[in-house]
Amino acid sequence: MKKKIIFLLLIILITTTTAEEVVLPKPNYKGNLSLEELLYKWKAKRSFKDTPLSLKQLSQLLWASSGLTIDGVSSATRVFPSAGAIYPLEIYVVCGKVENLEAGIYKYDAKSHTLKLIKKGDFRKELTSACYYQFFISQAPLSFIWVGNYNKVAYWYKERGKVRYIHIDLGHSAQNLTLQATALGLGTVQVGAFKDEEINKLLGLSQEETALYVMPVGYPK
Ligand SMILES: Cc1cc2nc3c(=O)[nH]c(=O)nc-3n(C[C@H](O)[C@H](O)[C@H](O)COP(=O)(O)O)c2cc1C
Repeated sequence: MKKKIIFLLLIILITTTTAEEVVLPKPNYKGNLSLEELLYKWKAKRSFKDTPLSLKQLSQLLWASSGLTIDGVSSATRVFPSAGAIYPLEIYVVCGKVENLEAGIYKYDAKSHTLKLIKKGDFRKELTSACYYQFFISQAPLSFIWVGNYNKVAYWYKERGKVRYIHIDLGHSAQNLTLQATALGLGTVQVGAFKDEEINKLLGLSQEETALYVMPVGYPK
């Protein structure tokens, strides 16, 4: 009995984390809906319930957007393609209401499937304001933000790669999130209208990086 309690406490300690690094639950590699059903079913959602998301759901959404697959030799390296396997995109999550996760801004590390805490606090209002007050962003429990580093692409593919490839990579990743959210019974919408500088500042980005896309996720109303 004692052992059981200690084991449970350990699990709670690992998953209910306020640490700088959050180890995410393992994602599922099987779902209940077919690709055809998801393609047919998905729809832009701009109204969200106040219901929090679970850490498991967040883990699944992150993995589907940008996680690892096998090894890059016998299979693709990641869940989406990237020109020259450069992967110049990073995913940040502005979390307001996720069970067992302190509100804050986090950065996803695909290799370790962990989140790194960037800033503590609920920044959904700041993000909404940076997105020209698209109110549904403050309703959603969390928002994904893709951040791109153009220099990483330009180093190999010069100007052409810079203006094309990074955005093509982004479309692949964002589409994965759209379909995964739909598969989980969640809603999302793609947001491109925002003040770049405001979001870059909110995330504490370097001069080389810029925010490219925002997608709030939550239970649709
Ligand atoms: C690059 C891009 C930027 C977008 N930006 C916004 C946005 O800032 N706000 C918004 O509500 N929807 C935005 N959308 C969503 C489109 O408005 C939506 O996909 C389109 O109206 C089709 O809607 P439907 O799926 O309901 O047919 C964007 C979509 C794309 C692809």
